[in-house]
Amino acid sequence: MIVLKTPAEIELLRVANRAVAEVLKELESKIVPGITSLELDELAEKLLREKGCIPAFKGYRGYPKSICTSINEQVVHGIPSERKLKEGDIVSIDIGAKCKDFYGDMAATYPVGNISGNAQRLLDVTKKSLYEGIAKAKVGNRLGDISSTIQRTVEGEGFSVVRFFVGHGIGRELHEMPQIPNFGIPGTGVRLKSGMVFAIEPMVNAGESDVEILEDGWTAIAKDKSLSAHFEHTIVILEKEPEILTKTN
Ligand code: MF3
Ligand code: CO
Repeated sequence: MIVLKTPAEIELLRVANRAVAEVLKELESKIVPGITSLELDELAEKLLREKGCIPAFKGYRGYPKSICTSINEQVVHGIPSERKLKEGDIVSIDIGAKCKDFYGDMAATYPVGNISGNAQRLLDVTKKSLYEGIAKAKVGNRLGDISSTIQRTVEGEGFSVVRFFVGHGIGRELHEMPQIPNFGIPGTGVRLKSGMVFAIEPMVNAGESDVEILEDGWTAIAKDKSLSAHFEHTIVILEKEPEILTKTN
C-alpha cells in the first residue's frame, strides 16, 4: 500500500528533508583531499542533532554510522572509516534523518579535488538522470515512466544502472512502498497520485551493472571495479509539479 501524505504531513516532510539537504551542503565544503570519511560522519551526526533530528541510518538493521560514504567503485552503503579521501577520488554521501516522526533522505556524489573527465561525466549523467526521472513524477503518469526515463538517460551515455538497489516511498518510515527501480518500461506500474512522496535514487556504474557486497556486510561495490555514482532526492507529487523536498531554500 502506498501511503498518501496530507498537506500537514508534507509540511513535516519539508522540514526533515530540508534538514538533510542543509547538512549535506555543509559537508560538501569539507570534501577535500586528506579528510577522512569518519570526520564527515561525525560532523553530519552533530549537525543533524543540532537541528533536533536523529541520524536515520545509525542502527538501521545494525548499520553502524550516521551517513554512508561510498568511494570510487563503491556503489552505496560504504561505512565511514579512517580512510582519507584523496585527490581524484569520487565520494557518494548518503544522509538520512528522522525529524519529528518523518524521514528525510538524500545522496550526492562529489569530486575530491580534480577528477578525470570520465568521472565527471559519470557524475553529470547520474545527476541528470535523477532530474529527468523527477520531471516524470507527475499526476497521471506511471511509476515506469520515472524508472524508464532514468534508465534511458544513463544507458544512452554508455553507463549502466544498478539493478540490485532501488528507490522507495518515504514518510513515517524510511522505506515505504513502492519500490522505485532505476530501470523499467514506460506506461507500466502504479499510477502516480498527488501526495505520494518518493526517494528517487539512481545508482550508476561506469562499467557493468553487477554489484558485490564486501565482507563488512554493507559496502556494495561494482563487481568490475568501475566507478559508481549515486544521486538521490526526496520529492512529493503535487497536482501541478513535483516538489523537491531535499532542497536548502
Ligand atoms: N538511501 C539509502 C536507502 O534508502 C540509505 C540506507 S543506508 C542504511 O536505503 F544504512 F540505512 F541502510
Ligand atoms: Co534512500
